Amino acid sequence: MRTPIIAGNWKMHKTVAEAVELATGVRNAVTDVVGVDVVLCPPFTALAALKDVLAGSNVGLGAQNMHFAEQGAFTGEVSPLMLKELCQYVILGHSERRQFFCETDEGVNKKIKVALEHGLRPIVCVGENLAQNEAGETTAFVGGQVKAAFDGLSAEEAAVVIVAYEPIWAIGTGKTADPATANTIIAQSIRGTLAEMYGDDVAQKVRVQYGGSVKPGNVDAFMAQPDIDGALVGGASLSVENFLPLVKAGQ
Ligand code: 13P
Repeated sequence: MRTPIIAGNWKMHKTVAEAVELATGVRNAVTDVVGVDVVLCPPFTALAALKDVLAGSNVGLGAQNMHFAEQGAFTGEVSPLMLKELCQYVILGHSERRQFFCETDEGVNKKIKVALEHGLRPIVCVGENLAQNEAGETTAFVGGQVKAAFDGLSAEEAAVVIVAYEPIWAIGTGKTADPATANTIIAQSIRGTLAEMYGDDVAQKVRVQYGGSVKPGNVDAFMAQPDIDGALVGGASLSVENFLPLVKAGQ
């Protein structure tokens, strides 16, 4: 059985003081929660403070991006060595990074390998845009992203990667994918591709989240799907009130 994982991607929200307040609220609200992994991904600036807030709790911590080099002349970037001191997870290849910061499949693949070498657990985002969706290209496009992301990974490495299926047109729009359709895409394009690359055993081990306008009112329909193992949540992760029901739905 795959343990569900509910992760909050705070994107570029929350000062350090605000992040400490929210993370403290989440930590205190989920003390009794078992059977679901809860992860908060604040901006880089808040990671050190949240490491302390979440120490000894049942809430994990993740970054939203990472450079592939351990150190060097890369102004403005943050390395795996820096992150592994602070957190356990790292979101890689989010569509906003691909769209606005020129991230490529090759770059994402390189970062995944480096994250794994350093013991950071990648949450790898894939998903089609509206034009691709309307043109019926989703299955092939998402399958291609998965193939590129996992290129060169061993079966052992592949099994610990978390994949988030986030249709771009559903992010921050209030529109969600139909849960059954999202499940089919995950089963075919994500698990299907992993099965081709590594066999069924690995394909069934990898945890796959849905992301895109997940809210307390719609989360149950996603969690009821057999191939959806949790959610990667933007807007609704920015308050305890909205995030807590999502964690509970993961149980
Ligand atoms: P929303 O939940 O705000 O749609 O964001 C989803 C997302 O991009 C999480 O990574």
